[in-house]
Amino acid sequence: MRIVEPITAEIVLTDFDAIKQALTNPHLSRTFDKRTYADGNVREGVVSIMHGRAHRDRRRLENMQFRPDHLKLYEQELFSPILEQMVSAAATKGEADLFSLGERLAIVLAAKRAGFDVDIEDQQAHEDIVAYVDEFSQASAIVDAKDPDAIRATVKEAHVGFHEQFGVPSIERRVQALAALERGEIGEDDLPHDILTSLLRHRDDPNLGLAEDSVIIREAGTYLQGGTHTSSQTLINAVDLLLDSVSGHPEYWQQTKTDLAFAQRCMHETLRLRPTTPKAKRRAEEATTVAGIEIPQGALVVLDLVTANRDPELFGEDAEVFNPDRLLPSRHPQWGLSFGGGPHICPGRKVAGGLQQAGPSAELGSQHLYGLVAMMIQAVVRRDPDRHPKKPQSRDDRTERFTRWREYWTIFNNPGWSRD
Ligand code: HEM
Repeated sequence: MRIVEPITAEIVLTDFDAIKQALTNPHLSRTFDKRTYADGNVREGVVSIMHGRAHRDRRRLENMQFRPDHLKLYEQELFSPILEQMVSAAATKGEADLFSLGERLAIVLAAKRAGFDVDIEDQQAHEDIVAYVDEFSQASAIVDAKDPDAIRATVKEAHVGFHEQFGVPSIERRVQALAALERGEIGEDDLPHDILTSLLRHRDDPNLGLAEDSVIIREAGTYLQGGTHTSSQTLINAVDLLLDSVSGHPEYWQQTKTDLAFAQRCMHETLRLRPTTPKAKRRAEEATTVAGIEIPQGALVVLDLVTANRDPELFGEDAEVFNPDRLLPSRHPQWGLSFGGGPHICPGRKVAGGLQQAGPSAELGSQHLYGLVAMMIQAVVRRDPDRHPKKPQSRDDRTERFTRWREYWTIFNNPGWSRD
């Protein structure tokens, strides 16, 4: 990891409560690299590395895109038919790389919410946007990259291509829509409901730092990327854990097919055991104290989510085991700290993971959100996938994040599954 200011010390936190305190400590930031974008900081000016007031202002604006009623509509009306169509097409071919399938699925709504127009019937455009997101995902995980300079080089190039192919046309359409609103030709409800439109509407606010198109595109691009790669990785990890469970708990596989609430608990349990970010990181802007531990200025604070998420006092004696029906002895979410916490908590957690269930037999109301990843897991498991005997299931060796896959080939034993 290359950091402009020298790291003065490295402190690793493994305790659940200590990590929660670190995540809300105002002196610990995600700003590792203070160079400008032009000088090689590919994340300069985007929400995920901002800090303090400026970060709060951005999040306040962007959080408005995650209202539960909108999310419900997205799950039921938009995602469900696309999901069936795409998983069925992949299964009919007899084999698929789940990583690529998961990304192509997740990107459909991620692009819509972020505000990048892509016609998914146009196969080339669909493939292009997925390829860009792959590059951006490397940049977003750059603190854990094995070769950050190689990533900086390719990601900068990807930003240029993305800007021209998707960014500029999407901005133009929204600028025109906003002008039409101004002239009274259309109403509020006719505007696209997405991050890009929100950012454009507020670009004159000096507190938001959104004057340049390139920052706006990279900011909305953070939402595009944040929702895609993580969802696909969690789909794979869930299928991987479910396949491992077949010998000991064949009922998990069957229940995933018939019970979406169970599929959702599989998603949460998967995230607990295999967070997409196994070690979150923070940098001490000033000397501070976390749970009685002194942190000097300039220290790198490593938050070991994997260890914290397996604390037996919080998650039970079998905390190391994949058990979607676990009854939590604590009030913590079943996914532990895998969506982060504090000001940087994942804004897309309800999109991907839905709402927490109060327990395996809790009644779920009609407005319960199951999350897109549970829907993906169920649609895939219904086609009875198995690990491909001839094609790889390989981890992503470009990153220290052990929970990330580069490809995960499966065959489908029941490609013809149908809802009827
Ligand atoms: C399984 C799915 C997901 C997982 C595991 C996940 C995980 C996380 C985590 C752990 C963080 C905080 C990192 C830190 O504090 O160091 C985060 C932040 C973020 N996530 Fe997610 N995420 C997921 C889905 C999504 C979705 C669906 C979206 C968009 C719709 C999204 C957008 C973002 C953004 C923009 C941030 C940065 C927020 C900020 O820094 O204030 N994520 N995510």
